[in-house]
Amino acid sequence: MKAKMTVNKAFTISEIDPRMYGSFLEHMGRAVYSGIYEPTHATADKNGFREDVKALVKELKTPIIRYPGGNFLSGYNWEDGIGPVESRPKRLDLAWKTVETNEVGLHEFMNWAKEVGSEVNMAINLGTRGIDAARNIVEYCNHPSGTYWSDLRRKHGAEAPFKIKTWCLGNEMDGNWQIGSKTAEEYGRLAAEAAKVMKWVDPEIELVVCGSSGLGMPTFASWEATVLEHTYEHVDYLSLHSYYGNPKNDLQNYLAMSVGMDRFIKSVVAICDYIKAKKRSDKVLNLSFDEWNIWYHSHAKDSKNEPWQQSPPILEDIYNFEDALLLGCLLITLLKNSDRVKIACLAQLVNVIAPIMTEKNGAAWKQATFYPFMQTAHHGHGTVLRHNLEVPDYDCDEYKAVPYVESVAIHNPQKNEVVIFVVNRSKDESIDFSAELQGFEIKNVLEFSEISGHDIKQTNTKDACPIAPKAAQQASVNGNILSATLSALSWNVIRVEL
Ligand code: AHR
Repeated sequence: MKAKMTVNKAFTISEIDPRMYGSFLEHMGRAVYSGIYEPTHATADKNGFREDVKALVKELKTPIIRYPGGNFLSGYNWEDGIGPVESRPKRLDLAWKTVETNEVGLHEFMNWAKEVGSEVNMAINLGTRGIDAARNIVEYCNHPSGTYWSDLRRKHGAEAPFKIKTWCLGNEMDGNWQIGSKTAEEYGRLAAEAAKVMKWVDPEIELVVCGSSGLGMPTFASWEATVLEHTYEHVDYLSLHSYYGNPKNDLQNYLAMSVGMDRFIKSVVAICDYIKAKKRSDKVLNLSFDEWNIWYHSHAKDSKNEPWQQSPPILEDIYNFEDALLLGCLLITLLKNSDRVKIACLAQLVNVIAPIMTEKNGAAWKQATFYPFMQTAHHGHGTVLRHNLEVPDYDCDEYKAVPYVESVAIHNPQKNEVVIFVVNRSKDESIDFSAELQGFEIKNVLEFSEISGHDIKQTNTKDACPIAPKAAQQASVNGNILSATLSALSWNVIRVEL
């Protein structure tokens, strides 16, 4: 099979916002306790955070982490996580039916995030709380000094404000599983008023308003339209959430699910632009895909969980090679929509549907999905180029005319390189791939790596991580044409020097 990509230096989609490679860490399961924080662990630092996990998060290079939820958020009092740890309350978390000790709170997480080199995308509770708690947390975090909340922050050891830029106005407020779920009217009004006063406290912040918690929600589209009627001029991004899975064990259908993600994004863009037109507004509202991932392996096990445990192992999906391939297709899809998707958060980061797994008092390791994310976070910077792709396609259960190749090309002028991320979805055939880079002069190939050649159900474990990039066959250059062979079922990174 052959695939031909054509790009032209002058035809671009958008500059990539670095927050495209965001992640998410919720107070649930073993994400925090025995994930990032475990004071009795052999590698624990003086604050009780695991150095082995820190090293893996740093390696991933995620620039921003959404926190503290998720469903947990909608019952959370942020004030429970400040002040002396010994006087913090233990609470029932009704979202996940567990017990939250609050040993890790705002300051501990902010310090940890700084150490791993990530900013925080702070979410505020609009389930059980409202405008007052929202304005207070912004004052606590971002106001320099001289007021009740800012001075309390200083008293708790943070002299300088945290200067948190990105904030989420609640979480999945359309879902009946959410504590304090709301109609679009109720949420839209509340979010608008919360947004207004949060920006009065700090005009520099950017706000994400909740879209539907998934494309399958019965209120999808009308939810977005109503919420934006109320909030359009107050907020900066609208959120999307989506999780994928292969319960029917249909590989070709599974690998096509990024086509569904692409349609979802385009539908939400259309809703934003409809409200823009209706309001005769000049403002373009962008998107925050702040929960996306694969989530289905752990469903059966989680249905048997006993309630009210402290940090039980829940949502611990173990990812395999086919998951790594789909994750690559999803990342490429986000990048191809970088003109409107400015923030995206892989949900989540450690232990809970995560690229990083840990063992209590034991090892930390990289799941099969770690590397496609890491490679894009490292190399996917600059400007996404529009491209034309000639390639055969296939029909599957849910989608028609799915191209065998999912690909994106990025021009990074700072590093003087063009980077191509490409997945071969064919299980039977390798593909002779060529990319004509019009307007560029290629000096040489810097990298051609692939993840390929595994059984589709192969996983990484604490003892061995076979799902990792390896050098691929040599790619060749002829003028401004790059040629490379893409192995059957492969994730590929090709970087050329200009
Ligand atoms: O990421 C797991 C959960 O998925 C989050 O808590 C919630 O927002 C979503 O339903």
